[in-house]
Amino acid sequence: MQLSALLFTQLPQYLLNLTNPSATPLSASITNPSLPILPEDMAETRFTLPALPYAYDVSSISFDFNVGPFERALEPYISGQIMRIHHSKHHQAYVNNLNAAAANHVRALQENDLHAQINLQQAMYCTSRFKFNGGGHINHSLFWANLTPANTSQAKPESAPKLAEAISAKYGSYSGFKDEFTGALLGLQGSGWGWLVKNKKTEQLGIVTTKDQDPVVGDLAPIFGIDMWEHAYYLQYFNDKTSYVDGIWNIINWDTAEGRYLDRCGTLKL
Ligand SMILES: [Fe+2]
Repeated sequence: MQLSALLFTQLPQYLLNLTNPSATPLSASITNPSLPILPEDMAETRFTLPALPYAYDVSSISFDFNVGPFERALEPYISGQIMRIHHSKHHQAYVNNLNAAAANHVRALQENDLHAQINLQQAMYCTSRFKFNGGGHINHSLFWANLTPANTSQAKPESAPKLAEAISAKYGSYSGFKDEFTGALLGLQGSGWGWLVKNKKTEQLGIVTTKDQDPVVGDLAPIFGIDMWEHAYYLQYFNDKTSYVDGIWNIINWDTAEGRYLDRCGTLKL
């Protein structure tokens, strides 16, 4: 199996194994079920930074007669400066660190260096290096795709009719849902993420938060996520997290959210 296909289906399970070694292990060959081991074909693949589906800012893009400037970037709700640094520096760092962690492990596997393998597994388990950077790559890849410039049709909740029905059934109204989600985001202590999720078994919606770069795992499928790390807002909003959250409701990509809710997005390409 190629790693790009492997990731979305098995990396969350792999990450779960790191926090809960008793969880079901990967289907790849594992010599010791109590220790997580990457599949050998990881050696052939490298993770890459995904391109944004919009521009960093309204001034960095070419003139287009048919599309206004605020239909091409997330400004004014997220500044071009934040977007450029967040994507090209922070997310790139998660990708680089993930590649380094994977490469070290694969090298030890290829050289049949059992001592190095055990050392790396213990280091990965103890420091969560793979979990942290793998989660960062997954979370940010989901985040970029569930945002859209404010003046696009995708930014209108009407773009998600089935999801809107489910939200109203669960939370009473769209505003009730927004209030509850906003409360969860602002209640996060330290760095983390807020997610609208669907339970894959019960189909029920839910609002959850994850710490640091922990991704949504297990029976929960992410519909959309909001990055609540300071690097996501501080250069523009300073300590005013409320204004950041208020603003981000204008740039949720409801079309993507509907696709994830209806399971029509397929495998996340990483
Ligand atoms: Fe981030």
